[in-house]
Amino acid sequence: MIERKATNIVWHAGRITRARREGLSGHRGFTIWFTGLSASGKSTLAVAMEEALFEHGCHAYVLDGDNVRHGLNNNLGFSPEDRTENIRRIAEVAKLFRDAGVISLTAFISPYRSDRDSARKLAEAEHDAFIEIFVDCPINVCEQRDPKGMYQKARAGIIKDFTGISAPYEPPEKPEIHLRTDQLTVDRCVCVIMDHLKQHNYIPCAPNRIQTTYYAAAP
Ligand code: ADX
Repeated sequence: MIERKATNIVWHAGRITRARREGLSGHRGFTIWFTGLSASGKSTLAVAMEEALFEHGCHAYVLDGDNVRHGLNNNLGFSPEDRTENIRRIAEVAKLFRDAGVISLTAFISPYRSDRDSARKLAEAEHDAFIEIFVDCPINVCEQRDPKGMYQKARAGIIKDFTGISAPYEPPEKPEIHLRTDQLTVDRCVCVIMDHLKQHNYIPCAPNRIQTTYYAAAP
């Protein structure tokens, strides 16, 4: 549990309600939480989904583990405590995105069930949707893919505490969606997720009208 240091702070409410934001964008903010081993396909699916949602006229944004660790979380490593703090911060960022009416797609290994459950509780406390997607790919396939050469380094002992090799991964027990990425194409996975979102009324069945002309960038 992280020590709470900020005292004498008072919440300042805004004037734009959730309903007003929803009226503008045509959908609520919610979180799609991808979890799975390194190289299981989380980032690939998150990026493909971001595009599918964008094309559908929805505001969506990817929060990717490797990317976020370049900035916001660049002071965290891969110890159990640091991974927990990594996920706690992302759960809070996802909460801000929901409040802003944006769909966030988080692509983090998030190996600990309790950390993912905390992220879920934060959403459910606000009656927001939290869709956990287990990006399930056997470790031997992840290891064959090894796009960043991480597994090779982990096997050689160059990278310590590597998830699936020398650090644990706790698979979700009841994810909203379970995808075997060694058996399904990316397009098929995107269809499964989009169908789920439409069936549960998280997004409209018909695409929102999208602006096809872009404002010229200022010189
Ligand atoms: S998490 O476990 O804290 O959720 P996160 O998704 O942010 O991990 O970052 C995982 C990425 O960091 C991997 O895709 C890999 O590129 C890199 N990485 C570096 N060291 C490790 C490690 N020891 N275990 C897992 N991933 C690592």
